[in-house]
Amino acid sequence: MHISQMIAGITLDRQNSLPLYRQLYAEIRKAILAGRMLPGMQLPPSREFCQSLNISRQTVLNAYDQLLAEGYLRGSVGQGTFVNEELPALADRSKAMVSSASPKPVMDRISKRGQQHIDPRGSTRFHQGNARAFRVSMPDLDLFPFDIWARLEARHCRHPKGQLGYGDPAGHLVLRELLAVYLKAARGVNCAPEQILITSGSQQALYLLSTMLLDPGDKAVVEYPCYRGTTAALHAAQADICAVPVDDEGMDVIYAAAHYPDAKIAVVTPSHQMPLGMTMSLQRRMALLEWAKSNAVWIVEDDYDSEYRFGSSPLASLQSLDTQQSVIYVGTLSKVLFPGLRLGYLVLPEKLLEPMVQAKAVIDKHTSIMPQLTLADFIAEGHFGRHIKRTRKVYAERQASLVTCLEKELEDELVCGAQDGGLDLAVYFKQTYDEERIIEAGQKIGLELRGLGHYADVPGKLSRPAVSPGGLLLGFASLTCAEIERSVSKLATLFKAAR
Ligand SMILES: Cc1ncc(COP(=O)(O)O)c(C=O)c1O
Repeated sequence: MHISQMIAGITLDRQNSLPLYRQLYAEIRKAILAGRMLPGMQLPPSREFCQSLNISRQTVLNAYDQLLAEGYLRGSVGQGTFVNEELPALADRSKAMVSSASPKPVMDRISKRGQQHIDPRGSTRFHQGNARAFRVSMPDLDLFPFDIWARLEARHCRHPKGQLGYGDPAGHLVLRELLAVYLKAARGVNCAPEQILITSGSQQALYLLSTMLLDPGDKAVVEYPCYRGTTAALHAAQADICAVPVDDEGMDVIYAAAHYPDAKIAVVTPSHQMPLGMTMSLQRRMALLEWAKSNAVWIVEDDYDSEYRFGSSPLASLQSLDTQQSVIYVGTLSKVLFPGLRLGYLVLPEKLLEPMVQAKAVIDKHTSIMPQLTLADFIAEGHFGRHIKRTRKVYAERQASLVTCLEKELEDELVCGAQDGGLDLAVYFKQTYDEERIIEAGQKIGLELRGLGHYADVPGKLSRPAVSPGGLLLGFASLTCAEIERSVSKLATLFKAAR
């Protein structure tokens, strides 16, 4: 091959974020492996290369250095640079592989178990693009005291005190002690610090539980409609997902017990049903615990936003009523602090702790230490309690403002659902509207709308118990009252046009 031919086959993309020397390295390597540059062939002097490709000599030298270090080339600057003769077998083999390999679809090369991790409902990205009204499940980051957080974190960076090596897979003990005290006081949760396992968000907690407690085909009861993070984790564990309707009192436990007597697990949101927002009644809670006891069902209590209860005080957690160690409590810091923190926790029955800790260690050794250290200080110094108190008041005002605006502007179109608390409000269509069309129309005028149908789409075969009510879930916590007013006006225009 003539030098000019060799150079002609090389393409570099200046718009690509990969440095030019890495691109040149990759091109030459590819040519050698494909047999286009043969063993013993001399490469052009670096000066010739850089003139022809209009790149700096240093770029060429850096690429050659890398290829020399990896053994694709031999020689030295001044003596000439050659394709290494000791590579023929490799070059021949890769040439043969390139020509004979029939391109297999990538899904054929992903395990069955792996394929279950790909959500059949499409993208698993929870929030995309810039936040706008009415993004769901989003706290107001402007209210978060990042200055205090940064100061606490900086203190650990300056004085790491040997705490930044590999830590306990269960999490930072001081944080677990503080959480145990907080959960007892705020939610009535009965636990020793050793029963707490810190996870990377509650999503990892749900994933760990699904993989550890279920074999493929095992029945998992979920509320209908249901949070997608739950059904995605159960789907990944190849569970048989069994949807149970909810009403004003929460999940219909009698329906669950009658239809799915052999269920292994039931995941519920008793404090604040996701997405409809009702609280599970005491009667249902007792029935659920009774069912768990008689049928050996694990109950997973996802208590994701119970800190935000407006008006009445919250019912104590389901876990606090459990005398049989059937309830596994799942908590998150995504709502009270911020979602990007990725901190959550499990409160486990004692007998489950060690297996779960072992599994956690296999997944990621342990959750990142620095946020755990910072959070422990944030709680110990009282900032956590103050932040919850302040945001609870603000979010209550925002929910009230949203309800008032909706009643004023959309009285004929929408009716508001449960208003006990949380960061989002479910609203139901009074007339028939096409949810998808409403969402699309919202996008065009800068609104981020989520239909209740999103939560009614449950993967797997299921005897779907009820048709989801048409409506929307509107996030209000991250919007000021003025933004709520403006956005409801936009929503009203949209609904009037959709009539
Ligand atoms: C029902 C439910 N559980 C848990 C979470 C929080 O998930 P994570 O802790 O993974 O951020 C959410 C977030 O919206 C949720 O709606």
